[in-house]
Amino acid sequence: MAESSSTPRDLDLLVAGEINPDIVVNDPDPRPQFGQRERFVAAIRLAIGSSSVITACGAARLGLRVAMAGVVGDDALGRFMLEAMAERGLDTTACRVHPALPTGASVILGNGTDRAILTSRGTVGELRAADVPAAMLARARHLHIGSYFIQAPAWPELLALARTSRATGLTISVDPNWDPSGTWDGGLKAIASESDVLLPNAAEACHLAGLDGPERAALALARGAARPVVVVKLGAQGALAATPQGAVVRVPALPVEPVDTTGAGDSFDAGFLAAWLEGRDLAACLRFAVACGSLSTLGVGGTDAQPTRAEVEAVLTRERP
Ligand SMILES: Nc1ncnc2c1ncn2[C@@H]1O[C@H](COP(=O)(O)OP(=O)(O)O)[C@@H](O)[C@H]1O
Ligand SMILES: [Mg+2]
Repeated sequence: MAESSSTPRDLDLLVAGEINPDIVVNDPDPRPQFGQRERFVAAIRLAIGSSSVITACGAARLGLRVAMAGVVGDDALGRFMLEAMAERGLDTTACRVHPALPTGASVILGNGTDRAILTSRGTVGELRAADVPAAMLARARHLHIGSYFIQAPAWPELLALARTSRATGLTISVDPNWDPSGTWDGGLKAIASESDVLLPNAAEACHLAGLDGPERAALALARGAARPVVVVKLGAQGALAATPQGAVVRVPALPVEPVDTTGAGDSFDAGFLAAWLEGRDLAACLRFAVACGSLSTLGVGGTDAQPTRAEVEAVLTRERP
């Protein structure tokens, strides 16, 4: 990587994306009843939400030096997120407080096996390229753009940011996540061609490529965009990666009994980037990432069960002594 000699790269990872909490309602039957009925449920709690922040927290837990760029509202939910990120060691100096819009949030009604989610947009989608200071880019080794499809107002700017970042010597990854508009375009292919790693899940990869089967989709996306390694998360089946040269690597998931899969893909992203930034080979990056994704399912919420590096290494040694 062409690193500037004048600025020390003291940030491993800069994540640009959405910042919102989850209000998690857990009960064997969490369905609300209208007609002004009040019911007791087993638990309601406020948790760190948003794919981008869960990835940033996962990477910090693995020991990376991480900064988050994004927008919150001037309200209790925004302050909760800023405090939670700071507690986990993230640099939040590039997090902007919007004076008028409320912090976006999701209410997740879950019974352990299924979920219903209500989301208010609020500040989600308010990220702008200008939120990422040039001085911070100069200090970072890698830029990760989270939940690309829900940052629609910033798409052209994010493409420009990716180009500037590349020119500044950073490597780049993008997690598209689900496209709520259903069009699966939004300039994703253009930004992917500026990126080193694309991180969709199986359904997202198939929509992006317009093909059935995650392996075919990954190969098409890697070749089509002519640059990125395409890493596809396969839930309980683990993950696969396709290279622009047409190679495919597959790794199974850990045999765990998940408690809650919220944020599994985001914790996977954190693991993949940690290993990839160390220069490990693709199969080793996938094993590390899958371990991070699978272990993260053993606790409730996105960040509570994210593993440390030592925990990942212990599991990998046990799996492949
Ligand atoms: N049921 C499961 N059992 C074991 N590991 C899982 C399970 N679900 C997810 N994972 C782990 O989390 C990773 C990402 O999960 P996935 O559901 O594919 O992503 P996303 O959350 O983006 O949809 C998987 O690659 C795997 O390592
Ligand atoms: Mg995901």
